[in-house]
Amino acid sequence: MTAVTDRAADLLAGSPYRGYSYAYPHKTAYRPLVPPVSLADAWRGEPTGGLFLYIHVPFCEVRCGFCNLFAQARPRAEVVSDYLGAVARQADAVRAAIGPATYARFAVGGGTPTALDPGQLHRLFDVAERVMGRPVGAVPASAEASPGTADWDRLAVLRERGVTRLSIGVQSFTEAEVRAAGRPQHPAEVSGAVERARSLGFPTINLDLIYGLPGQTVASWLATVRAALRFQPEELFLYPLYVRPLTGLGKSPRAWDDLRLSCYRAARDLLADAGYAPVSMRLFRAKHAPADDAGPAYCVQDDGMVGLGCGARSYTRGLHWSDGYAVGQKEVAALITEYAGRSTDALGLARHGFALDGDEQRRRYVLLTLLQEPGLPLADYERRFGSDMFGDLPELVELAPLGLAEVAGGRLRLTPAGVERSDAVGPWLYSPTVRRRMGDHEWR
Ligand SMILES: C[S@@+](CC[C@H](N)C(=O)[O-])C[C@H]1O[C@@H](n2cnc3c(N)ncnc32)[C@H](O)[C@@H]1O
Ligand code: SF4
Repeated sequence: MTAVTDRAADLLAGSPYRGYSYAYPHKTAYRPLVPPVSLADAWRGEPTGGLFLYIHVPFCEVRCGFCNLFAQARPRAEVVSDYLGAVARQADAVRAAIGPATYARFAVGGGTPTALDPGQLHRLFDVAERVMGRPVGAVPASAEASPGTADWDRLAVLRERGVTRLSIGVQSFTEAEVRAAGRPQHPAEVSGAVERARSLGFPTINLDLIYGLPGQTVASWLATVRAALRFQPEELFLYPLYVRPLTGLGKSPRAWDDLRLSCYRAARDLLADAGYAPVSMRLFRAKHAPADDAGPAYCVQDDGMVGLGCGARSYTRGLHWSDGYAVGQKEVAALITEYAGRSTDALGLARHGFALDGDEQRRRYVLLTLLQEPGLPLADYERRFGSDMFGDLPELVELAPLGLAEVAGGRLRLTPAGVERSDAVGPWLYSPTVRRRMGDHEWR
């Protein structure tokens, strides 16, 4: 992440691409918990009436040149099998620690869950159902897949076990662009994967696309967005590329920012014409998409997350934790091997995380709410925290005069200029502690 200053004016003058705030605090702000916290202590007294279960599959068939996710390419068969054994043991430890609980959402992500074979996928869903005490299909359930691994057999397992949302990583329909980004993938592979997903009847199909790739222009990017629209996906996730590609870009940082901003604006306008509503800077939802509030009540700001697997995060109100974070392939492999060798007792400990005090909890609520449609309800903030938001975080007052947000209908809501700068507004709201820790993080 680039350095962040405190001046609101820099939100307009500086780079719009400082960091993706999909979770707060970022994993690079986690530190060893000394002593480790038992899961029973972490979950004691926490609401468990609407939990999210997430399982991380840190394996892929290739390591894409741009990817900074926690994943290992082409693992040996016994690495995968040992890993799934550890996920099952961790599930036992978590179940014993939490006691009776109700799960409202399920997701399996990665990496690439469909890097597992059909038998391994069944094993994983068995574990999920043991933890939740209900079929996966009883709740909205999401799974990620890459086109190269989305064959009939694997997709059929996902659908049969109750997955309702399939997210396919497409990145670009221009073969030269994905290849230059270190991802060998033919457009026919993508079409085949989406068509198979459609005929298996997943209610929601999401396609991930990336802009700012080496060799990409606004015109070639729009051609990719149009190609995606031909499949009428229920959702589209448009990611600005982070991690400057080593080859091919040949542009200054400023020119790269300008290209990404132009790509974003052009796609946003095209999608508006095609009837897709923006939910955030990255997510666009079609009119024909099933309502996203279907299923048992779940609130991302309130409800806990149970993460299973190496690299998965878990959240309670006051503590976030996960295993160590790495990007380099040797370090990722070492963390996975260490995880797979742990006993059930060792898997019942949170060893690496971040304790959120009142200020961090308030910042988290603001970040998760303000960066999404329909913005932040001021009365809800006051009801939760018993204080005035502008009193707690006076810097928020500065957004409206800069044209980045407005107060309307009792909400603080980003304007279109604010939405396109979400990746600057988010990091600007990070606490000094989180910024310092992220800055001190040693990348491996
Ligand atoms: C877990 S992956 C999706 C599933 C699958 N592994 C695949 O690649 O097809 C999540 C998404 O994050 C996005 N992504 C990964 N690395 C990125 C980066 N450096 N910058 C922007 N987006 C990135 C990609 O769009 C990718 O599809
Ligand atoms: S983009 Fe997807 S397939 Fe490529 S390395 Fe990252 S997680 Fe794996």
